[in-house]
Amino acid sequence: MVKDKTHVTDSRLGERTGVPAVKKGTQDPMEMDPMPEGSTPFQAPELSTRREAFWLAAGWGVFGWAGLTSVGMLVRFLFPGAPFDPAQVFSAGAPEQFPNNTVSEAFKKSNQVWICNQEYEGQQILFALSTICTHLGCTPNWLDGDQKFKCPCHGSGFYANGINFEGPAPRPLERFRIFIGDDGSIVVDKTKKFQQEKGEWADPDSYIPAV
Ligand code: FES
Repeated sequence: MVKDKTHVTDSRLGERTGVPAVKKGTQDPMEMDPMPEGSTPFQAPELSTRREAFWLAAGWGVFGWAGLTSVGMLVRFLFPGAPFDPAQVFSAGAPEQFPNNTVSEAFKKSNQVWICNQEYEGQQILFALSTICTHLGCTPNWLDGDQKFKCPCHGSGFYANGINFEGPAPRPLERFRIFIGDDGSIVVDKTKKFQQEKGEWADPDSYIPAV
């Protein structure tokens, strides 16, 4: 005789014993046999998929961050003197602030420009010189005692007028557009540059006659 109703799952046996058969899959979970000790609990496949998706996303995030950081470091290594946030057009003050035969470093840090008042091809002129070395982009130092720019990276030297004369730099420093603004002060426009080796230093936008 069958005493436990929940174990009667065969309809024919139910008919013989008078106990109504219980349909497979409709048993009350509370009455089911407990899980054998030491067995692995059942894990919903959906939860597992979510976990995998999370770790996959986290992995790609770390990979992307590492990639971007590496590229940034590579750019900094190749072009250590390259400015990342330059002001393109700025006022440099009255021309009188820049006496003859001087190099002003007032805008070197903030705008990556030297304002020079030097003689070039027999004319005393004011011009805005780029602080980016034409070899690999380092920032040269102005050595007032030697009256020259000297690049600390590979030793290139430039005269006060920007012409290269020693080291691996293949060409002179570049000039930027310079003019006198409506208020009489010097304006430097870095969106336009002039290269000596292309004959562009003859362009009147590349200098102001000194007073
Ligand atoms: S970057 Fe200036 S000499 Fe190389």
